[in-house]
Amino acid sequence: MSRVPEFIEARRSIREFLAEPVPRPTLDALVEAACLAPAPHHSRPWRFVIVDTDDAKHALAKGMGARWRVDLEQDRVANERIDELVDASYRKITDAPALVLGCLTWDGLDRYPDADRQRAEFGMALLSLGAAVENLMLSAAHRGLASCWIAAPIFCPEEARDALALPAEWLPHAMVMVGVPDPSYVGRARPPVPLDELRRVL
Ligand SMILES: Cc1cc2nc3c(=O)[nH]c(=O)nc-3n(C[C@H](O)[C@H](O)[C@H](O)COP(=O)(O)O)c2cc1C
Repeated sequence: MSRVPEFIEARRSIREFLAEPVPRPTLDALVEAACLAPAPHHSRPWRFVIVDTDDAKHALAKGMGARWRVDLEQDRVANERIDELVDASYRKITDAPALVLGCLTWDGLDRYPDADRQRAEFGMALLSLGAAVENLMLSAAHRGLASCWIAAPIFCPEEARDALALPAEWLPHAMVMVGVPDPSYVGRARPPVPLDELRRVL
């Protein structure tokens, strides 16, 4: 028997979905699970936004895509390649049955006068958002749903926020696609955990 609990092993990133909606109560249940994650100072410095309408998906994909285009132009990527990348990203977002956007706020966090401690406080909030997202994805897997974390908003939190007209202090930092898994999707094999490289016993 594996030493890792089965429910942890069972979660995989699945990037293709059947064209079926995810019921809103199910999405709410996933967000509730996310909100049981550990967080600094008994805070919940997260806000979750359900993006499952065509209009909202389009607005989010367009807003983030415009910013990515600027970044790629600054990186001097060829225009044709930029079009390919931005189009693929648009399609990925608009084809997902539902997206859950994880935002950070400063609600409940400490404020420090110096930049180092302020950065550490922000890091704690970000770590806790990661824990919340993992809860969400484990819950999705438990319900037989597919999910995949998408990094994009962390590169353009303001654009993602403004695309959806979210409150100024809600800054998107994580995004998870959720849907009914396409049974034909074949993911990468998961490499074994090289425990001797990744942990040290002192
Ligand atoms: C912070 C973060 C950002 C990620 N961003 C993306 C992404 O933009 N696109 C994508 O296809 N997968 C993304 N992933 C999923 C990883 O590729 C995936 O978790 C990893 O390959 C391990 O596979 P598994 O989740 O099936 O175990 C992201 C994962 C994390 C934790």
